[in-house]
Amino acid sequence: GRGAEVLVASNRGPVSYAVGAGGALSAKRGGGGLVSGLSAIGPETDAVWVCAALGDGDREAVRRADGELPVADTGGQRVRMLDIPAETHAAAYNGIANSVLWFVHHMLYQTPLEPSFDTEFRGQWTAYEAYNAAFAQALDRAAAPGAAVLIQDYHLALAPGMLRERRPDLRIGHFSHTPWAPPEYFALLPDDIRERLIRGMLGADRAGFLTERWAAAFVACCTATLETRCAVHHSDSEAPHVVTAPPGRTPHTTRIGVHGLGADAEFLRERAHRPDVEERLTALRAQIGGGDGPGRRRTIVRVDRTELSKNIVRGLHAYRRLLTDRPEWRERVVHVAFAYPSRQDLAVYRDYTAEVRRVAEEINSTFGMPGWQPVVLHVKDDFARSLAAYRLADVALVNPIRDGMNLVAKEVPVVSDAGCALVLSREAGAHEELGEDALSVNPYDINATADALHEALSMPGEERAARSARLATAATALPPARWFTEQLTALRG
Ligand code: G6P
Repeated sequence: GRGAEVLVASNRGPVSYAVGAGGALSAKRGGGGLVSGLSAIGPETDAVWVCAALGDGDREAVRRADGELPVADTGGQRVRMLDIPAETHAAAYNGIANSVLWFVHHMLYQTPLEPSFDTEFRGQWTAYEAYNAAFAQALDRAAAPGAAVLIQDYHLALAPGMLRERRPDLRIGHFSHTPWAPPEYFALLPDDIRERLIRGMLGADRAGFLTERWAAAFVACCTATLETRCAVHHSDSEAPHVVTAPPGRTPHTTRIGVHGLGADAEFLRERAHRPDVEERLTALRAQIGGGDGPGRRRTIVRVDRTELSKNIVRGLHAYRRLLTDRPEWRERVVHVAFAYPSRQDLAVYRDYTAEVRRVAEEINSTFGMPGWQPVVLHVKDDFARSLAAYRLADVALVNPIRDGMNLVAKEVPVVSDAGCALVLSREAGAHEELGEDALSVNPYDINATADALHEALSMPGEERAARSARLATAATALPPARWFTEQLTALRG
């Protein structure tokens, strides 16, 4: 073929496969904000989505597909999975992307002990380069002359530069679904590595971010890292841009864009009223208990990957503080907490998952009574059940330490049946758009979070519904399909 006109590249694709009994493959939708956003790329763009095989099931699917995956599995999208050697993938994904870059941008290190950049790290870095090179090579092969390529996230920070080397004809975009670290924190990376990362990103014609704050941090890191080897231009009429001029070469310009990914109201509302969701709604109501009348129990809902940056443990501590300091809420509220498995190859994530369970059980054994279980914790991924919880939510708790956007904060007000109050960390990207009608919290302040939960639970129904409606409007300002075409138009412009 002639090659694709539009390509998207990311580590995780829209499906992952598991090998079942008798060798049958079953496809499952991937989790996380990136997949939620990109899944709305419709057939109208005819985009080809290039992603990595993440496990044995995926590798088997690649072997059987021999090219693009069956669209029946992908939800209608054209998907190409790269079978990067498992060891290379593991070192790049677990070692560098999730243990170093994710930690840097979310500022998760406990710096007296971590990080230490040593020989093991250098080996993983080599794998990260090879992994990015594999994407650059695949994109080069698949792209038509002058095609638009949209590369996603911190897994692929080097790919824009590598692809530009091979294919100067392409229009290359990069988009970060995470925060970007402030320069003082970014500087903990070895000097040569941070320069490689910045130069890799600046291989793109456009670098996109979820909020002004992350975009500004990126630009500050460019200046701090490259110093006089780059120039930053701000103008009122166009996006800020960074110009680099490698010695002896024509200068290259990277424009900075802010595209605040929103929730997909149409999809969510339709999906949230299908029979599988209704079924789970009934089951959840039974678990919550307390009947359905005007005195029905209130719910505080949270739905996250079991992710260090989501701050689930402090959220549970805040709930315990609420029950301790305001005994009037005992038996009248249930904390519905969904914490889905994530990055379980990493020991810190396994430990964190165990801690979430431990604290939830402790609250239940301290406060629980016959007929009232204060925390309903579910740890097995179930999208339909998440939507059922959204519908039931009186209060949504979204308290990350730091978060690129947090789509849950945007989804719950859209779906909740009676309107929900939103307790929202000021460190979530979504706070830039939702801060006015949410109850803002400092994610480290457990007592203040408990107070905000009390305020949210106590909010009169009318005010709650009015705020929830305004939250839903703000949350859906830029639905995924438009978020995507906006970037594509800017890239081609
Ligand atoms: C975040 C990242 C995504 C990632 C998702 C799920 O939203 O920005 O790139 O796909 O988390 O994490 P995982 O490691 O399971 O892909």
